[in-house]
Amino acid sequence: MRVSQNQIVWGGNYFTDNLPESRCWLYWDKLMGGDFSDGELAWTSFDAVLRKFTHCNKYHGKIHPTQKPIALYKWLLSNYAKPGDKILDTHVGSASSLIACHQMGFEYWGFELDAVYFKAATERLNMVKAQVSMTELIEQVIPEQVSMTELIEQVIPEQVTIGGEYGH
Ligand SMILES: C[S@@+](CC[C@H](N)C(=O)[O-])C[C@H]1O[C@@H](n2cnc3c(N)ncnc32)[C@H](O)[C@@H]1O
Repeated sequence: MRVSQNQIVWGGNYFTDNLPESRCWLYWDKLMGGDFSDGELAWTSFDAVLRKFTHCNKYHGKIHPTQKPIALYKWLLSNYAKPGDKILDTHVGSASSLIACHQMGFEYWGFELDAVYFKAATERLNMVKAQVSMTELIEQVIPEQVSMTELIEQVIPEQVTIGGEYGH
């Protein structure tokens, strides 16, 4: 049963026998080198040309062993989703995909089998959702145009001293 209009399947090169032909494979160049593979391949259902996304996979604070960067999912959403599309990730892992959806205003669903990963991913997603973007903050604080001085006074109602003086 097909539940989505289009699909992107990372690691599709491992089971090509089960996937229809596609000319629109995607390549993520991880800039890894050494003993690691240079990148990962995704099969897609799109009728488009092969594309490459380059983004280093060396970053700290991973909560999942195969965590992909949020930037990769943002690139996918920018290029392969349309406003109003609903996104389903059947293998959520770290929730990078869902975070990208949230930050780009897409409605999303996700599934994760492993209870430990589910908990960690939910916490990661909730932390991002709790953050207010600078744009949202400015929209909330300044319904009308105000100067930067007034804005700072509204955001920081009491005097705050940053740094101090030494050697009187
Ligand atoms: C390769 S990882 C996904 C990593 C993810 N793309 C990321 O960026 O973090 C695959 C995940 O799918 C989960 N998984 C495996 N089988 C599943 C199933 N049948 N339903 C839902 N999740 C499943 C695993 O527990 C694992 O966390």
